[in-house]
Amino acid sequence: MAKKRIGILTSGGDCAGLNAAIRAAVYRADLLGWEVYGIIDGTAGLLCDPLEYKVLTPSMLDTNVMRMGGTILGTTNKGNPFAYPMPDGTIKDRTQEIIDGFKTLGIEAVIGIGGDGSFAILRKLAMQGGIRMVGIPKTIDNDIGETESSIGFDTAVAVATEALDRLQPTAASHDRVMVLEVMGRDAGHIALTAGIAGGADVILIPEIPYNMASISKKIAQVKEGGRNFALVVVSEAVKTLDGEPAQMRFSDGQLRYGGIGHYVGDQIFRATGSETRVTVLGHVQRGSPPTYNDRLIASAFGVRAVDLIAENKFDRMVAWKNREVVDVPIEAAIAAYQAVDVNSSLVHTARALGISLGDEA
Ligand code: F6P
Repeated sequence: MAKKRIGILTSGGDCAGLNAAIRAAVYRADLLGWEVYGIIDGTAGLLCDPLEYKVLTPSMLDTNVMRMGGTILGTTNKGNPFAYPMPDGTIKDRTQEIIDGFKTLGIEAVIGIGGDGSFAILRKLAMQGGIRMVGIPKTIDNDIGETESSIGFDTAVAVATEALDRLQPTAASHDRVMVLEVMGRDAGHIALTAGIAGGADVILIPEIPYNMASISKKIAQVKEGGRNFALVVVSEAVKTLDGEPAQMRFSDGQLRYGGIGHYVGDQIFRATGSETRVTVLGHVQRGSPPTYNDRLIASAFGVRAVDLIAENKFDRMVAWKNREVVDVPIEAAIAAYQAVDVNSSLVHTARALGISLGDEA
């Protein structure tokens, strides 16, 4: 009898921990006697002729692969197959080609590792093509609903925290205000978590509007208290005082975040006269070796995703809740976008530690 064959793909921005999830899924599937086909570059591998995929076996995926950042399968956050930009400038619906690709490969079910944007596309594709799918949540932004953690978040926070540890000595040696701009899109989880862990004096997140009087007051208090430096963390989607996002349109037409750190740094200099420097952490947050925690949840997610297929449970996303791996409807996870809850215990913790969130009277 032919072996059951499942597919796995990574979609959207990369992050640390993806390879641990792929590895775990392959190990679990192998134990069940199944084959795993890794699709290259998300669904883009199925738009290629010949189809681009790798047959994944445990012997190819030793423990070293778990230590590696990125994704051994490649990924893309461009080229929505429902509105695919063609080289001649036209837009084409290429979903049927992808569905045909799954059928040609004989894939009975697919594991999609992605964020909410990828899940929305993959789910629509699965419904259209009768493809059986389960999802594994990943994003450094940690904004997917119905799960406490997504793969990649913990590593991004660890990197941002280490950046603060490394900025502190320069701040202290030069009597400076050091501003660190971190990623996270519309959710301030990385800034809030790393800011608390890394001893920031001010944390600005998109969910809490700020004013310069509040930030200046905090920096003045720090100086009055005898400390000659301050650390400020700013999340990339924080707006300017005029309410504008700090984004730049690149020549490919894409708007990308970047610049709010420099904007806030200059505002701090103007308001306080403090010598200020800015670091934009950028993709460094996505690429390092995964933390133990990202390796752990990724491994648990990979195993559970295969178990869901074995149980014939589809259109589900594996999730981390109360120290356990559970599964939830993908639709519910997409719908429950998870920004920072301004009444959460972490926001309370920051305020109770005297960290300014930029909105104090
Ligand atoms: O969603 C993850 C993320 O890293 C965001 O935090 C960031 O704004 C964006 O992706 C960057 O995307 P790209 O890799 O396309 O520049």
